[in-house]
Amino acid sequence: MKNFIAKLPKAELHLHIEGTFEPELMFAIAKRNNIEIPYKTIEEVKTAYQFSCLQDFLDIYYAGAGVLITELDFYDLTMAYFTKCKEDNILHAEIMFDPQTHTKRGVSFETVINGIHLAREEAESKWGITSELIMSYLRHLSEEDAFETLSQSLPFKHLIKAVGLDSSEKGNPPSKFYKVFKASAEAGYVLVAHAGEEGPAEYVWEAIDGLQVMRIDHGNNCLTDEILVQEVIKRDLALTVCPLSNLKLQVVKELDSHPLREMMKRGIKATVNSDDPAYFGGYLNQNFYALQEALDLSKEELVLLAKNSFQHSLLDEKRKKELL
Ligand code: HPA
Ligand code: ZN
Repeated sequence: MKNFIAKLPKAELHLHIEGTFEPELMFAIAKRNNIEIPYKTIEEVKTAYQFSCLQDFLDIYYAGAGVLITELDFYDLTMAYFTKCKEDNILHAEIMFDPQTHTKRGVSFETVINGIHLAREEAESKWGITSELIMSYLRHLSEEDAFETLSQSLPFKHLIKAVGLDSSEKGNPPSKFYKVFKASAEAGYVLVAHAGEEGPAEYVWEAIDGLQVMRIDHGNNCLTDEILVQEVIKRDLALTVCPLSNLKLQVVKELDSHPLREMMKRGIKATVNSDDPAYFGGYLNQNFYALQEALDLSKEELVLLAKNSFQHSLLDEKRKKELL
């Protein structure tokens, strides 16, 4: 099965580039930027990665991203992820980045996007791996702040396909961002959002009706509302599910009680993704391996999950056809 999964062509639709920051690269970049980090060894970093909820993780994730300063840092970070794509047979990646995490520290939007973009071009020319960028607004910050990010993004609009919504979900419902999502759509961006990871089904309703997203990141808590499940199916909205993330952040107790099987059984279009692989213990293939074992997924089910990832990507129909 592992061999089958490894060879399966895949797209990854839910991946935070800041969440691919491996401790080894973090140490190297911190050193060249003369920044102190609160860990002495890689082992120390890894033992710090024990989380009891999303917020626990976010505190460490934002601190880690704090050593990224130059265009080269963002290039190195992104190139390291594309190397993993090559290893995992990911043919297409939709990469989220959090501009506010960097602009708040005085790193310019331009520095972030130029570094990431350079790596995207290289991955495509070297390995034929295509990618899209999703600019994610941080939901613990204000809508006004998101509006500022939207305007900073406009000179680089040709490099960004979509906007998303991430960070601390509880207490920060999608309704806080209706206006900026509407303005983002008017500017030409496609819309996605994290919803129903720790937040209730009500937040997923807000994401689909209020924000008008075309895809839901996580969406686990959809399953608590049968009418919502029917609506997600009717509107053909895919969920970008992240098994190892769910396990590490204690969204699920065990992988064998992961809701993915139930989602598939009910006819929801689910995809498998790694979310923040450097923090959650594995890249895309590891997520597939763990899930296949825990839920005893068949080859047909694995193929369906991989097909869903292309089908519900932001690729144009022509490239979808080539890849499916
Ligand atoms: N949820 C919310 N925000 C995030 C995540 C996540 O899983 N990863 C990075 N930012
Ligand atoms: Zn995420």
